[in-house]
Amino acid sequence: MKTLILNGSPRKNGDTVSLISIITQNITGNYRIVDTYRCNISPCLDCRYCRQNNGCIIQDEMQEIYGYIQECDNILIASPLYFSELTGKLLDVGSRLQTYFCARYFRGEDPVKKPKKGRLS
Ligand SMILES: Cc1cc2nc3c(=O)[nH]c(=O)nc-3n(C[C@H](O)[C@H](O)[C@H](O)COP(=O)(O)O)c2cc1C
Repeated sequence: MKTLILNGSPRKNGDTVSLISIITQNITGNYRIVDTYRCNISPCLDCRYCRQNNGCIIQDEMQEIYGYIQECDNILIASPLYFSELTGKLLDVGSRLQTYFCARYFRGEDPVKKPKKGRLS
């Protein structure tokens, strides 16, 4: 079983990291954590490449994450709330999922074949 964990906290030893630590001690299989405040992932630039093309034109760490999203069984979003919203860097990473929206609604394709379980913490 594979789990993708999106960590939306800037704090290296904060509440979110404590929560993630408990979760990773108790899940089976592999997991991958995206530390959104320290990873090399740019926000979506609305270049609209993905309206006609599969994937994303921005070549950064998100390319690996797209691969992991295809394979994984679970996606966990773990984030503090900032002004009742997900944190800025997590929203940057989340904006790169626009390629899936475009696949479905502009190109009429099913962007992610494998079903997932999702959780927001
Ligand atoms: C800029 C900023 C905005 C915040 N806004 C909210 C909020 O809207 N609601 C809330 O419950 N907590 C808010 N908080 C508190 C954090 O969500 C809370 O301290 C959280 O546990 C921090 O998690 P971390 O230690 O994993 O970074 C805010 C904190 C900051 C720094």
